Amino acid sequence: MKNIFQTLRFRLLFWYTLSLAFLGVFIILTIHILQYKYSVQLIIGLFIILAIVGFVVVYRITRSITFLSYQMRQISSKTLDKRITSIKGSDEIGQLAKSFNELLNRLDKAFNRERQFIADVAHEMKTPIATLRSSFEVTLHKARTNEEYKKIIKDSIIETDRITSTLKDVLDLAWSEVPNENLRKVFDLSELMNEMSEIAQKLALKKQIIVINSITSHIQMLGFRKRLGRALLNIIDNAIKYSSFKGKIYISLIKEYNNALIIIKDNGQGIEEEELEHIFDRFYRGAKTDKVFGAGLGLAISKATIEIHRGVIQVKSKSKIGSTFSIALPLT
Ligand SMILES: Nc1ncnc2c1ncn2[C@@H]1O[C@H](COP(=O)(O)OP(=O)(O)OP(=O)(O)O)[C@@H](O)[C@H]1O
Ligand SMILES: [Mg+2]
Repeated sequence: MKNIFQTLRFRLLFWYTLSLAFLGVFIILTIHILQYKYSVQLIIGLFIILAIVGFVVVYRITRSITFLSYQMRQISSKTLDKRITSIKGSDEIGQLAKSFNELLNRLDKAFNRERQFIADVAHEMKTPIATLRSSFEVTLHKARTNEEYKKIIKDSIIETDRITSTLKDVLDLAWSEVPNENLRKVFDLSELMNEMSEIAQKLALKKQIIVINSITSHIQMLGFRKRLGRALLNIIDNAIKYSSFKGKIYISLIKEYNNALIIIKDNGQGIEEEELEHIFDRFYRGAKTDKVFGAGLGLAISKATIEIHRGVIQVKSKSKIGSTFSIALPLT
């Protein structure tokens, strides 16, 4: 309320009221024009005052708008750190400049995040491609038997599969930040969890891991079914990858107040305390993972997806005892 006199709306309304008042006076004077000695001069004077006030008001408003648009034009994707500092007023134009600066802050942050992400991806992809190339170079150094060539090609296919899978994860992560809201649909989370549990059983066969599930039926939620499925699968995949032979995995889903609560628990190698705070970071891999293939993207993707669903993911883990991932997803 205290700044009402400084707003453009007030100034324009003030000018408009003033013009009406002058018009009133003008009409009265016209009616009695012959009765006053200086009536003509008075009318001319009133018009001049009105014209000057109008000119000043319009000039000041358009000047600040032109200036603001000039400043906006100076900002490109390369100068996102620039801000509009010369417009300080608290009127609508000042507020527009402030909102524009806030928009720049958000864009700048997003751009930096993207840049960092691309740098991380490039860094991650460089090593496997360099390895592949050097193994080809070594192969070409001398003549080899057919068997040797076969083996090298087979190894290379495995390596390219790894690169493809990392790239898929990268794309997943990149897309997970720009969901199309229109694709949000109501689906049966219990059904999805049952599917996940079946996949877990198949994945666990090789290591003879037992999968125990307890899934409450008919829990419906709104979201992206496929994407959430992949997010959950990443956590299940970890539970199996980081468990030893004949381990046990528990998968459960219950409804708690207005949340669906998912728990994925394993009795595998567990996570060191100092590693816990990093496991959701992109490309982070724990120290005890040399023998297990991965890019360190699984949990980053899961977390981003769960957050798109306004959910929360938490982890409790003890080295050599096991890990428990809990995910709470709001149902309304
Ligand atoms: N259930 C688990 N038990 C033990 N350690 C885990 C578990 N889940 C995650 N971790 C640790 O967290 C790290 C990050 O996990 P994340 O799933 O993001 O990457 P990754 O499994 O190494 O690779 P990717 O999932 O991309 O194939 C892992 O490298 C591992 O050290
Ligand atoms: Mg993983």
